[in-house]
Amino acid sequence: ATISEGRVSWESPSNIALVKYWGKKKDQIPENPSLSFTLNNCKTITTLSFSKKETNDAGFNFEVYLDGEVKADFKPKIQTFFERVEAYLPFLRAYTFKIETENTFPHSSGIASSASGMSALALCLMSVEKQLLSAQNLKVDENNALNAAYFNQKASFLARLGSGSACRSIEGDVIVWGATDSIEGSTDLFGIKYPYPVHDDFKQYQDTILLVDKGEKQVSSTIGHNLMHNHPYAKNRFQQAHDNMGQLKTILATGDLDGFIALVESEALTLHAMMMTSMPYFILMKPNTLEIINSIWNFRQKTGLHISFTLDAGANVHVLYPEKERQEILQFIKSELVAYCQNGHYICDQIGFGATQN
Ligand code: PMV
Repeated sequence: ATISEGRVSWESPSNIALVKYWGKKKDQIPENPSLSFTLNNCKTITTLSFSKKETNDAGFNFEVYLDGEVKADFKPKIQTFFERVEAYLPFLRAYTFKIETENTFPHSSGIASSASGMSALALCLMSVEKQLLSAQNLKVDENNALNAAYFNQKASFLARLGSGSACRSIEGDVIVWGATDSIEGSTDLFGIKYPYPVHDDFKQYQDTILLVDKGEKQVSSTIGHNLMHNHPYAKNRFQQAHDNMGQLKTILATGDLDGFIALVESEALTLHAMMMTSMPYFILMKPNTLEIINSIWNFRQKTGLHISFTLDAGANVHVLYPEKERQEILQFIKSELVAYCQNGHYICDQIGFGATQN
């Protein structure tokens, strides 16, 4: 039997990279491996309604809603996504879709919703595929969506084609994307769960996101990744990411918090250094980004607490710290750092365990 209509819903988190993905090849293949913590509170909730087309219209048929309102400016990105994934989801042109989406974090907060949004949509499409396959009474084999491991893997594969970093948002709590020698099973095609032991000090790691600048991104990540083509430092940077993956493995296993801080902050500043040394060049930090970084360094020097920062391709600062130091560090954030945020706005988050079906 074929299914004429249905509705599926997923909520999927954002993630924060410790080793950064910056630079890609054709088909969203990363130039270097990356490793991220999945977040817990910053999520996109997406409901996908589908109904069998009655006409012979050969195009993709979909509407996108954000918080209940039609979002025409999301359409081109999803059109491109559908074009990239249709080879893997043959039902796409046979149905009409309504995509309803909302975020748990404020929009125009300057937090990219592409990782949570694209992973939620990819999971919804996998659920549709699963329903269609079930209706055909297909046997479960290794390569179909009725198989649980394959479901997540293919969801991550599809999410990657929407937005590279989105492939790291399907599962938690630590995810690796990009083939690299030190991580067994790592691949360029999808994110995998980090396969080695992680010291207790890194469980429930905290991420307080300081919203320094809520404006539109100055540089889209597509343009940003392309800046690594013919970049004078590209080769060294990609090699450094491989080396850092190997080092991080030891750091995570032994609970080396000082080693973690040095590696993660260096990765963040290297990402920005790549943007400052590309042609054209960009400075994405704001004066308050630097105020926050200096203030974190002073506080760390004074107290010996394990506070550190990382950055995405923008001015906002992710403040990272172990759960056991939460009280003192959160107190410092509230009394000193929040003053540098736009309208005093910040978000408390921590490591999470991946997407869930509603
Ligand atoms: O997924 P994209 O194409 O938006 O790239 C995101 C890149 C960074 O956020 C800057 C780093 C990362 O690894 O998440």
